[in-house]
Parts: sequence; C-alpha cells; structure tokens
Amino acid sequence: MDGRGGLARLPYRWGYLPIVEFRIDRVPASATWELRQAVLRPHETINQLALPDDDELSTGSFAAINEDEEIVGTVRVAPASPPFSVHTYASADSPSWRVRGMATREDVRNLGIGSAVLSRAVQHVAEHGGGLLWCNARVPAVNLYQRAGFVEHGDVWEDPDIGPHVVMWRLV
Ligand SMILES: CC(C)(COP(=O)(O)OP(=O)(O)OC[C@H]1O[C@@H](n2cnc3c(N)ncnc32)[C@H](O)[C@@H]1OP(=O)(O)O)[C@@H](O)C(=O)NCCC(=O)NCCS
Repeated sequence: MDGRGGLARLPYRWGYLPIVEFRIDRVPASATWELRQAVLRPHETINQLALPDDDELSTGSFAAINEDEEIVGTVRVAPASPPFSVHTYASADSPSWRVRGMATREDVRNLGIGSAVLSRAVQHVAEHGGGLLWCNARVPAVNLYQRAGFVEHGDVWEDPDIGPHVVMWRLV
C-alpha cells in the first residue's frame, strides 16, 4: 500500500500501478489486430486491419502484456507524411512518423497502459533518429496525447464511423 486511495499498488518499471502488472514488448502487427479490431474498428473485420508497411523494419507495433500473457494495450508507429506541411513545425527535410492504433482493453483502462504504450512509440521514433510525430487523435484521447507532449493542429472533424478527431503532433 502506498496510502493513495488505499489501493494495493505494485512496483513497476513505469511507476506504481494498482492491480495490473504489465510489460511492453515489440510484437508482430498481427498480434495486435484482435484488440485493435475489438476496441477501435468493430465495424471492420480483423483482415481489414493489415497495413502495407506492417512488416517494414521502421514500423513498430507494441503491446502491453499482462501476467496472463494477454495483450491488454497496443500502439503502432511508422513513417508517414502528416496532413500538413512538415516545415510548418520542423525543417522541411525532417522525417515524419504517424502513431495510430492505440487501444487499451476496456477492463484495464485508466491505469497508465495507454500512456505507457504511447511513450514506447515515442521511444521508437527517438531510436530511429527522431522527427515530427503526428496522429489523428480521437477527441476523448486528446488529454492523453497532450500529457505526452502533443499539441493540436487545425479543427476537429467527424469520422462517420468512429466520431470526432483532431490532428496532433510533437517533435521527437
Ligand atoms: C484512449 C485509451 C487508449 C487510453 O488508454 P488507458 O490505458 O486508459 O490510458 P491511461 O490510463 O494512460 O490514461 C487514461 C486516463 O487515466 C488516467 N490515469 C493514468 N494512470 C492512472 C493511474 N495510475 N491511476 C488513475 N488514473 C490514471 C489518466 O489521467 C488519463 O486520464 P485523461 O486521459 O482523461 O487525462 C483508451 O481509453 C482506449 O482504448 N479508448 C478507446 C480507443 C481510443 O480512443 N483510442 C485512441 C485512438 S486516438
């Protein structure tokens, strides 16, 4: 117990978390599809989640894995041009990266898993030379991205299948 809220907390690499212990591994993209489909794209089939650059060395797919070896969180990051001119915020020859597919299983949200996988994606970009990192953030996730150093670009728009989004970016 650490006295905060009376929850039993487990010492953990990224801080102190109640109840759930997890590690983050780099995994094949296909290992993340089941969770991504269930959380992010229930209107699509698992087969529709494959992306052309899934197997590129520069693409990083990461999973938070609990003590039962279940994937409870995920994120993906890969080189991709943003929907604005890179030189608006960085030098024109700066590499650009897109983070997407961030999802946490519903029963283990608000425990820091999303922030931890996003941090791992940022680390992946740093390990590959850095650059401008951007995403199409779902509006309910904007706070999480802001805490990770992202800022908004432009207006909120509505995706008819999945709701309001806004572009966010940061330099790594
Ligand atoms: C967005 C999503 C991935 C966040 O995952 P998560 O594991 O709950 O993320 P975190 O726990 O790091 O942060 C979520 C909230 O929990 C809070 N939190 C983090 N650690 C905490 C802890 N140890 N104790 C209590 N609260 C905590 C954070 O303050 C955060 O609140 P805020 O975002 O309103 O500021 C998850 O809600 C999800 O899968 N949503 C549906 C899909 C989606 O929208 N994905 C994003 C696409 S852009």
